[in-house]
Amino acid sequence: MKLSTRLKVTFAAISVLPMVLFAIAFFIICKVMVYLERLENVTSVTSTMPKGLFWTLWITIFVILLLIATVVTRWIGRSVFSPISDLKIGMQQIAEGNFEYVLDADEAPTGEIAELYKNYEDMRLKLKESADEAIQNEAKNRELITNISHDLKTPITAIKGYVEGIMDGVADTPEKMDKYIKTVYNKANDMDRLINELTIYSRIDANRIPYTFLRLNVKDYFNDCIEEIGLDLESKNIELNYENLVPEETRIIADPEQLKRVINNIVSNSVKYMDKEKPKGIINFSVIDEPDDIRVEIEDNGRGIPAKDLPNIFERFFRSDSSRNSAKGGSGIGLSIVKKIVEDHGGYIWATSKEGEGTCMHFVIRKYEENANE
Ligand SMILES: Nc1ncnc2c1ncn2[C@@H]1O[C@H](COP(=O)(O)OP(=O)(O)OP(=O)(O)O)[C@@H](O)[C@H]1O
Ligand SMILES: [Mg+2]
Repeated sequence: MKLSTRLKVTFAAISVLPMVLFAIAFFIICKVMVYLERLENVTSVTSTMPKGLFWTLWITIFVILLLIATVVTRWIGRSVFSPISDLKIGMQQIAEGNFEYVLDADEAPTGEIAELYKNYEDMRLKLKESADEAIQNEAKNRELITNISHDLKTPITAIKGYVEGIMDGVADTPEKMDKYIKTVYNKANDMDRLINELTIYSRIDANRIPYTFLRLNVKDYFNDCIEEIGLDLESKNIELNYENLVPEETRIIADPEQLKRVINNIVSNSVKYMDKEKPKGIINFSVIDEPDDIRVEIEDNGRGIPAKDLPNIFERFFRSDSSRNSAKGGSGIGLSIVKKIVEDHGGYIWATSKEGEGTCMHFVIRKYEENANE
């Protein structure tokens, strides 16, 4: 039975029923009295009470009961109906996925309904929190997938270039052929690792890059890197000058694959934003020794970055006007990936640039100190 029907029945029970019962009882009593009067020939109250007075009394009591019943049922109705209909709206909103509907606190009742209000509010906040978290995770996962797809382009382009080189007969000596094939193999490995990363993301459903930090010898690590990118740049007729000024035994704690992503992204920008007017593209790659850190500088003689854009280049999706207007593709996420990886290594990155002259990317990573870390 609906709550409103129950209230109507209660109203009737309080007001009408007593009066009907009262009238029936009165009628029976009168009949009994009349019968007794006849038997014993005595005069009773019932026979002396005028009929008009009885009806006045009956109607007065009825009106009083009616008033009391109206006030009581309205009072119960108000204290139950309006909060329940408010709760009903709130629940409907939640069912539709809107977790912003707050129940009207001014009209918040006390007692059990107040508890219901509180439970609703707790539930709403919990649902809102988990919905917000789900949206954030979704956005971060999407961002990571975009990052990986972005970085997959670099090895694919390189593999295409080398295979074309082999097909066109550019690799005309056994040494060259060996180098080309080795690079294709390395690039395929890079792709394999990135695809593995994608699988890991989807499996662990987390929004962190799964780093594998290792102790790396700075000299050996960067020498190997340069060998790989050197070949790439050679085929593009870009001069690469490399100096590694750190002592032999210097080590860092880093993820070799992720650090390679940093270098690949920076170098591919240098290649992409080379100044066509200049006779030859040049990249200077230096690894510098500092008291507590190593500093890597990758400098190019490209078209440079306007001073107004320099503070924004590490922002996701930022591209300077000239890059946006040029035919060179890109989504403006390369340097945001670079920044994230460097910072996840405890380092920092910045850029210096002069329009028309070139750009230099600097990043710093702390050295691994045997004693400090043991
Ligand atoms: N070496 C550089 N020389 C000139 N401009 C650069 C250089 N590196 C970065 N920039 C500028 O910084 C912007 C952001 O670089 P970022 O690598 O984040 O994005 P992108 O190269 O445009 O696109 P994506 O890397 O996603 O393919 C570039 O659009 C470009 O304007
Ligand atoms: Mg880029």
